[in-house]
Amino acid sequence: MTTPPSWQPPIGPEWPHEFFASPDALVLGGFPDEDTSRQEAEQVAALIGLRAGMVVADIPCGPGRHLVHWARRGCCAVGLDASPYMLRAAAATAERYAVHVHLVRGLMERLPFGREVFDVVVNLFNSFGYLPDDAANQRVITEAARCLKRGGLFLLDTRNPVAQILCAPLDDWVLLPQGRLLRVTATYLRATKRLEVQWIEADRGQRVYAASLRLYNLEELKGMFARAGLRLEAVYGDFAGTTFAGHLQMILLGRKG
Ligand SMILES: C[S@@+](CC[C@H](N)C(=O)[O-])C[C@H]1O[C@@H](n2cnc3c(N)ncnc32)[C@H](O)[C@@H]1O
Repeated sequence: MTTPPSWQPPIGPEWPHEFFASPDALVLGGFPDEDTSRQEAEQVAALIGLRAGMVVADIPCGPGRHLVHWARRGCCAVGLDASPYMLRAAAATAERYAVHVHLVRGLMERLPFGREVFDVVVNLFNSFGYLPDDAANQRVITEAARCLKRGGLFLLDTRNPVAQILCAPLDDWVLLPQGRLLRVTATYLRATKRLEVQWIEADRGQRVYAASLRLYNLEELKGMFARAGLRLEAVYGDFAGTTFAGHLQMILLGRKG
């Protein structure tokens, strides 16, 4: 029988910087493999009508697993991430694919780019809702819109909160490559509308990683797009372009007016 994890301090706003600083994030975050990443990049390219010469920004880019494929198509590919570890991984990915990508360290809520520079901005793989309050999460979309050219596209690939709430509470085990065993628990807190995830060292009972995601429903996201001056063009349930109908994935495509 498993015992409940002992009390751990609340998860602070700095969690993304701690979590994504480690190679463990690639395992615990369940990042898709290279073939899946290539397929996703091609499918996203089709959804946004990507053409050679376009300037596309992947914010946040993580290990650059999508970016390199857009560079191969002749796009000017810009990746921004807060994590030096992820940026090093992205540089290694670009080297492996022998393409040039522009990698920038920065915050998605305060982009270090000028106005109207990108044809497309994407935010992929559930990288939204990390910030501590609604105003800060809104800034992620507003900043993306600010940096888009008129008529440019913003694609947000997030998860359907209904499906995520149904999967919580979760209590499971995960084995890291070095043989370290972690217990993972996930709880949805109705009061804050956040999914709180923690990974606890099996031996010492101490929390080693944590994540806290504000889950936004479709109506809330529509409001956030509108406030950023983005006209919603489509909502998909997968990268193949199936219209969203309660899928696990929720992909919003907005155009700057
Ligand atoms: C789940 S990963 C997804 C990365 C990439 N989009 C992908 O599909 O592989 C989330 C990324 O967000 C980055 N990140 C977290 N908070 C950030 C912030 N405030 N500004 C910029 N990047 C951030 C992390 O370092 C991590 O690489």
